[in-house]
Amino acid sequence: MSEPIYTQPMLKEGSLNGKVILITGGGTGLGKSMGKYFSELGADLIIASRKLDVLEKTAEELTSLTKRTILPVQCDVSKYEQVEELLSTSLKKFRKVDGLVNNAAGNFISPTERLSNRAFDIIVNIVLKGTYNCTLAFGKHWIKNKQKASVLNIVTTYATTGSAFVVPSAISKAGVLVMTRSLAVEWAKYGIRFNAIAPGAFPTKGAWDRLFPKDLQKKLDLTKKIPVGRVGDHQELANLAAYLISDYSAFVNGEVITLDGGEWIKGAGQFNMLEQITESNWDEIEAMVRQAK
Ligand code: HXC
Ligand code: NAP
Repeated sequence: MSEPIYTQPMLKEGSLNGKVILITGGGTGLGKSMGKYFSELGADLIIASRKLDVLEKTAEELTSLTKRTILPVQCDVSKYEQVEELLSTSLKKFRKVDGLVNNAAGNFISPTERLSNRAFDIIVNIVLKGTYNCTLAFGKHWIKNKQKASVLNIVTTYATTGSAFVVPSAISKAGVLVMTRSLAVEWAKYGIRFNAIAPGAFPTKGAWDRLFPKDLQKKLDLTKKIPVGRVGDHQELANLAAYLISDYSAFVNGEVITLDGGEWIKGAGQFNMLEQITESNWDEIEAMVRQAK
């Protein structure tokens, strides 16, 4: 049987030819998957995070696969000076940067009352501060040099709904989402677009180790929460990300696209639990409801 179509590349060959794209957290997980596809589509990449050995390994792997240039740069995005260094290293190598994917994140599940102020800080500093640090440093450069650019912020569905047990992440992602919408308007005049993706469940080691540790996986079947009955495939996220970072999406600005198989909306709809009612139960229920007149 052939692979489902959503696991396959979607955009035309060469869709990102000539582009240089920075992906924070590009050495692992979804950042790596997006990077792989962007470079298959012709982009050169900068991948940046704290662990240089991980970045170098990914860069080597992707370069040998796609023959594009991939520059690994050690950078803690929560430190503004390091982000400025990242900008100058990127410009030295490529002379320009056309796209920024704010993908780096930190997260773990915990009842909020168990968190220290330092635990709160570490997440907010990576997710919210890291995103505005990169956006500000690269944005100032683009504006000064009259360079057009596309920014893609990776958020979560709970950026909109909020979520218990991941509160530092939720407030940070909400801030990132609001920044996406705010700058989409403010910086459109400079030719800089902002969009976001809110992924549902896309298995990665980074997220699963911290959010669905093995014991929890045994107790909770995640796919039961998802109307389409499966988790996401990395290629389907990479397809959407490539479209949003590319010039094909030139008229999409300030948008957040949810890619979660209907998961969050299933939690929200007031009568969604009626799904548990069987066809024969419905005969009785319908009869009761009809009596109401
Ligand atoms: C309570 C905790 C804790 C826990 C750490 N802390 N883990 N508190 N419960 N499970 C506290 C520590 O005690 C410390 O506070 C403070 O947090 C900082 O701890 P550090 O030791 O400095 O950090 P460390 O635990 O080493 O690292 C935390 C981290 C790390 C930086 C967030 O996990 C990391 O590097 N993560 C990057 C990758 C990642 O998180 N990926 C997942 C992204 S998924 P004190 O007071 O003791 O000093 C995602 C959304 C997914 O974002 C949505 C899925 C559907
Ligand atoms: P991941 O592999 O753990 O990715 C997180 C990345 O962030 C790592 O590469 C990490 O690299 C980097 N990072 C962390 N702190 C950093 C810092 N201070 N400076 C620079 N880089 C830093 O997890 P993932 O699942 O792929 O997550 C990627 C993105 O998708 C995140 O924004 C996450 O919130 C979002 N998301 C994921 C899911 C999912 O189901 N997987 C769902 C919703 C949203 P270093 O350790 O080398 O720094």
